[in-house]
Amino acid sequence: MRILDLSHVQAGPTCTQMLAWFGADVIKVERPGIGDITRGQLRDVPNADSLYFTMLNHNKRSITLDTKHPKGKEVLDRLVKICDVLVENFGPGVLDRMGYTWEYIHKLNPRMIVASIKGFGPGPYEDCKVYENIAQCAGGAASTTGFREGPPLVTGAQIGDSGNGLHLSIGIITALYQRLRTGRGQRVNIAMQDGVLNLCRVKLRDQQRLKHGPLTEYRQFGEGIPFGKAVPRSGNDSGGGQPGWILKCKGWENDPDAYIYFITQAPVWEAICDVIGKPEWKTHPDYAKPPARLPRLKHIFATIEQWTMTKDKFEVMEICNKIDIPVGPILSMKDLAEEPSLRKTGTVVEVDHPTRGKYLSVGNPIKLSDSISEVKRSPLLGEHTEEILGKVLGYSAKDITEIKQSGAVSAPQKTRSAAA
Ligand SMILES: CC(C)(COP(=O)(O)OP(=O)(O)OC[C@H]1O[C@@H](n2cnc3c(N)ncnc32)[C@H](O)[C@@H]1OP(=O)(O)O)[C@@H](O)C(=O)NCCC(=O)NCCS
Repeated sequence: MRILDLSHVQAGPTCTQMLAWFGADVIKVERPGIGDITRGQLRDVPNADSLYFTMLNHNKRSITLDTKHPKGKEVLDRLVKICDVLVENFGPGVLDRMGYTWEYIHKLNPRMIVASIKGFGPGPYEDCKVYENIAQCAGGAASTTGFREGPPLVTGAQIGDSGNGLHLSIGIITALYQRLRTGRGQRVNIAMQDGVLNLCRVKLRDQQRLKHGPLTEYRQFGEGIPFGKAVPRSGNDSGGGQPGWILKCKGWENDPDAYIYFITQAPVWEAICDVIGKPEWKTHPDYAKPPARLPRLKHIFATIEQWTMTKDKFEVMEICNKIDIPVGPILSMKDLAEEPSLRKTGTVVEVDHPTRGKYLSVGNPIKLSDSISEVKRSPLLGEHTEEILGKVLGYSAKDITEIKQSGAVSAPQKTRSAAA
């Protein structure tokens, strides 16, 4: 499978990186001299591609091409004809302005699947440019994240960008499968707002439950604070049917990550009572059954915290796991970068790069037993331009020189006489 990758920044590149890990030949088209804007953003090593770029563009080839230049268009037409999927996440209308409408692409290659990410679907905001945090705000994540007393919060997980890159790749694979039967390509459209809302599905569940009474698993119920008309921010309350909260562990005064997520799962309630030194709660009418506990969650978690504060997060994990109590340590990025088991499975990988040296990246989180993903470094800007023009598109050496001199793939080369 060959992908014509016109994507940039994070959302589109996440999708094409995933497909490249699964073996697709991804040809990333970049503007001559500049490339994907992320190459130069948040740079840590001078004159080297940033981690922002390198960590989102593994296993791809790069061709530089001015898609607004007549010769560049000629090359792009050829790429459209020989690729299976075109992926783009330009601002609204950009691809059409370039001259690559669906009708034009479909005429050039009726089998082509055109996959796009935009901020919004059809509606009042369809012409808006959108970045990650705007999508989190517009898709319901921010209004439901954070503490009730505080402002809306965005999350560190890039659910708008990377989350929608994954949605897009599912759409592409489905369209490819469909094409086996129909022989035709189709459009795959993802709106970032829709994708975030899909990931906030449980909050729309809660919005509807509100009509039938308070959300009893939210702490505010036990605190006697009335619910308003919309789902409130729930702090660290569990989104499921088993109450949970983040609790301090030994060392929390100095370590911002010395915390653990603790779930008071009903089937192991008695084990919890024993481990925290409250065996009397096993039979006490205020604590023995889950409905009795709901109005008392604040007090229950404060009591459990008295116990977790006597242990470090890994000790709590060890003690609780043995007796099946679901808990999870708050792992910092440092913890994750150094975790040997993640290195072993290829979830965290070390990659070598010619200009920046060795760096860590996240490998393919989807593990197939017969198709192991190998993480290869991202391409330098235009590293494969000649190779793609010659070997993939079949241009002769003379044609390639002409294309280069036209300025379509690089700044025009001055001839001796012109330079004189
Ligand atoms: C992310 C985003 C806000 C960035 O905005 P931007 O930097 O202004 O970039 P745009 O995509 O709007 O426009 C790119 C311009 O570069 C031009 N361009 C891009 N690649 C080119 C190339 N190889 N050759 C020539 N021109 C090129 C485009 O034609 C366009 O020019 P135009 O506005 O004159 O038509 C916008 O692309 C967007 O809203 N994308 C959809 C949602 C999305 O994916 N957001 C998350 C990104 S992680």
